[in-house]
Amino acid sequence: MVGYAFMGTAHSQAWRTVNRVFDLSLRARMAAICGRDQVRVAEAAAQLGWQEHTSDWRALIDRDDIDLIDVCTPGDSHAEIAIAALAAGKHVLCEKPLANTIDEARAMATAAAAAEAAGVRSMCGFNYRRVPAVTLMRRLIADGRIGEIRHVRAVYLQDWITDPQFPLVWRLQKDRAGSGALGDIGAHIIDLTQFVTGQRIAGVSALTETFVKQRPLPAASSGLSAATGDGLSGTGAVTVDDAALFLARLDGGAIATYEATRFATGRKNGLRVEINGSQGSVVFDFERMNELEFYDATRPSAEQGFARILVTEPDHPYMSGWWPPGHVIGYEHSFTHQARDFIEAIATGADVAPSFADALQVQLVLDAVERSAALGSMWSEVEPVLTEIAA
Ligand SMILES: NC(=O)c1ccc[n+]([C@@H]2O[C@H](COP(=O)([O-])OP(=O)(O)OC[C@H]3O[C@@H](n4cnc5c(N)ncnc54)[C@H](O)[C@@H]3O)[C@@H](O)[C@H]2O)c1
Repeated sequence: MVGYAFMGTAHSQAWRTVNRVFDLSLRARMAAICGRDQVRVAEAAAQLGWQEHTSDWRALIDRDDIDLIDVCTPGDSHAEIAIAALAAGKHVLCEKPLANTIDEARAMATAAAAAEAAGVRSMCGFNYRRVPAVTLMRRLIADGRIGEIRHVRAVYLQDWITDPQFPLVWRLQKDRAGSGALGDIGAHIIDLTQFVTGQRIAGVSALTETFVKQRPLPAASSGLSAATGDGLSGTGAVTVDDAALFLARLDGGAIATYEATRFATGRKNGLRVEINGSQGSVVFDFERMNELEFYDATRPSAEQGFARILVTEPDHPYMSGWWPPGHVIGYEHSFTHQARDFIEAIATGADVAPSFADALQVQLVLDAVERSAALGSMWSEVEPVLTEIAA
């Protein structure tokens, strides 16, 4: 694993747990973790359960006893690490968004397609797909239970930078993060809605805003929001969006609205998706992640109403490995499910989703949103993913 802060911790939890919960044909062994600071990476290795540590990610790729590289760094290093790892024959799990630019994402998808021919697999970490209620939502839609999809309504709302004194962490710098709320949390609802509907975003009309344009330079690195300018004083420019909103058309005929913001005061991790079809609706709200709301318009009118499905039955997606019905799961379980599916794909040769080609397509949507916003919300088509990469 490369990177040991927020996602490094979440993924470590998954690798520690996955073989204890699921009966898999391969076992995860937590061989080594990489971070740039020798002292801190040694502490992280001990805390998170890694056997060894290093401050150079290339040392991981050079080792014959390491089969898989898990990339948990900011977006500016995803392409370099992932492409080098794939070239060395290592399977790669890479955090989202796949890269900071479409050129990098395209290079990664091309490298993944070449590696695939040699049996080397790659996956992008859109973990919310693997919340059981979200997977169930996809299943109900695929089974035709809400009929033809008309509306997709998706928001991802946070509020952690509403204070103008919050420092200029890497997530607020375009050269490190690629974009702001758009790529960080907007990418999740793009992937999630395309996953559950089976439809892809074909075009968008967007607007973005940066409310606070200058922020204090960070005094020191801090956990989830590792700093970039340790020890510096003064302020620096915010070079990403604070909020991104867009209308979209999906290629199966649905119309959609998306909102991603870090300025929704009071909303901490408010990911909510509602899909309305000709025969019903489904609603998911991450802050109630064990539940799925389902409205079945084919029922007799006297019995109609939104049903709250508690997604904890053994025949619900992923739940057979966990607890008795009603004993709910949490955020970290989505990463364990991600690790489970990736290990199984490696073991059995099953298709990996989301592949790097799928994640490139999300990147192309992000690009269309940025182009539209730059041109006064002009309608922008999403460039189709090249067939040779998709295959
Ligand atoms: N799936 C999710 O829900 C989710 C949530 C948060 C972040 N992310 C994604 O995960 C990635 C990492 O975000 P985070 O929140 O964990 O960030 P973070 O700032 O908490 O951690 C980043 C880690 O990468 C390390 N790092 C940076 N550059 C490095 C390099 N060149 N070599 C080795 N280590 C390096 C840092 O020291 C730190 O340990 C980003 O792509 C982000 O978009 C995904």
